[in-house]
Amino acid sequence: MVESGAKAFYCTTPIYYVNDAPHIGHAYTTTAGDVLTRWHRQRGEQVWFLTGVDEHGTKVQRAASGGGVQPQEWVDRLVADAWLPVLGTINAANDDFIRTTESRHVQRVQHFWQVLKDNGYVYSAPYEGPYCVGCEEFKLAGDLVMGEGEFEGEQLCPIHGRPVEHLEEENWFFRLSAFGPQLIEHYERHPEAVRPVSAYNEVMSFLRQGLVDISMSRSSVSWGIPLPWDHSQVVYVWFDALLNYATAVGYGEPKDSPAGQQFANTWPADVHLVGKDILRFHAVYWPAMLLAANVALPRTVFAHGWLLVGGEKMSKSKLTGIAPEQIVSHFGADAFRYYFMRAIAFGQDGSFSWEDMAARYTAELANGLGNLASRATAMVERYRQGLLPASPSIGEAERALQELLVTTVSQADEAMTRLDFADGIAAVRGFVEAVNGYVTDQEPWVLAKDPATADRLDTVLATTCESLRAIATLYHPVMPETMSRLWQQLGADVALGPIGEQPVDRVAIWGQLPAGTRVTKGDALFPRLEDET
Ligand code: MSP
Repeated sequence: MVESGAKAFYCTTPIYYVNDAPHIGHAYTTTAGDVLTRWHRQRGEQVWFLTGVDEHGTKVQRAASGGGVQPQEWVDRLVADAWLPVLGTINAANDDFIRTTESRHVQRVQHFWQVLKDNGYVYSAPYEGPYCVGCEEFKLAGDLVMGEGEFEGEQLCPIHGRPVEHLEEENWFFRLSAFGPQLIEHYERHPEAVRPVSAYNEVMSFLRQGLVDISMSRSSVSWGIPLPWDHSQVVYVWFDALLNYATAVGYGEPKDSPAGQQFANTWPADVHLVGKDILRFHAVYWPAMLLAANVALPRTVFAHGWLLVGGEKMSKSKLTGIAPEQIVSHFGADAFRYYFMRAIAFGQDGSFSWEDMAARYTAELANGLGNLASRATAMVERYRQGLLPASPSIGEAERALQELLVTTVSQADEAMTRLDFADGIAAVRGFVEAVNGYVTDQEPWVLAKDPATADRLDTVLATTCESLRAIATLYHPVMPETMSRLWQQLGADVALGPIGEQPVDRVAIWGQLPAGTRVTKGDALFPRLEDET
């Protein structure tokens, strides 16, 4: 629960379809949310991080029937066997996990749509047009492309590369067209509400073309949430799924109930993280639904790019999905998190390759940070019996590192809070390199040979360990497990308390690790890759 009184920083991932097991494209969004929310926690803020699964709709229903089981059995099994475990695989510290078949969600979704119907935004009408089951989306004429080869003459969904289906149903419609001008005005006043700029421009041009009403129910689908006023229809899966962001934190509950208080302390969401393929749902339909219900709009929808394979979006249906476990079992969860946040600019597409990941792992983690940590802790053990010395002779080189740390912290904080993870990591990496350069220049192994330079050796060892104290804290949101180990090796857990409680705004305060702290050289933070030894 979020403590009452303070508005939490609330971040969400999309809820993932459980037609199949997760691949690294799904883990990518969750990792980004986890890094962002851990950063905000480290800033001392209250945080609420939500992820979950989207269990209704045609896609899941068909997958279940293909597997020869009832949909509920299908989703229960996949959630337990694949979707919950993947959170452990990537070490996500989510505060909640919502499933759209949970009764808290079902009841609140029904309440929401009843409110919209009562407010006059829902009416009955026939729907006829194309539908992509892969996207679970009613398509507009301009959304489709003409097929070639095996699909010659058919209209295809450009995302799934498969023919759309033709739907003819008696449906209930949501009066989306009523909200175009209000949304345009909102986004003109709040350009930060859709990011990056390319996503903002896409949303604005869609809005300026004018909105048409959209079907909010399905009569030919049974696997969904029944409309409270018409049990022959279920809520269209997207208009069920989008509501998870509000239902999970207590939308619709009395203000003085625990759930109602949770809603007051959490809503509106600060960041909805989404892939660029589902931008329109989040930046047009979702806020229109909220306006219709008189609920505050989310502060930012951030659309990230795709992980590509052979230039196309990685997907299970195209058999290009890589399971997160495959990468994590080889490199570890922290290297996975580091790599995807560091190698791909958040907001742009990127490709994963084993070679690139192995090269960065070796250069930046094993040889860069890992080597620095093992050199520093080994030298304190060897030259000072494992006790951190004081730093009696601060000179130019030490002052330069202290100053660099001040700018590093402010650059990293600025970048991470605007979701530029690659820049945030680059700032910390620059500091790691500077400290590595400092150790090389100061040659503590030479200083150790001459008792006359004992003070200098003390200073170099203390400065290096103090720098590692700062690096561990700054990298903790990205690599929580490894940085906790480094923290222990530095003896910082005993001297300074848990790493997660070190506030970002105090990282640059120099001299926090006291002299006499017990330093130990533990196992390598980033072991050499097996195929290289
Ligand atoms: N269920 C809907 C979302 C409902 S949110 C109210 C959905 N599910 S999904 O499982 O198909 O995809 C969810 C998200 O997974 C995408 O938006 C994106 O965040 C992520 N990705 C899936 N494939 C991806 C890549 N190849 N690359 C990057 N992210 C990808 O859409």
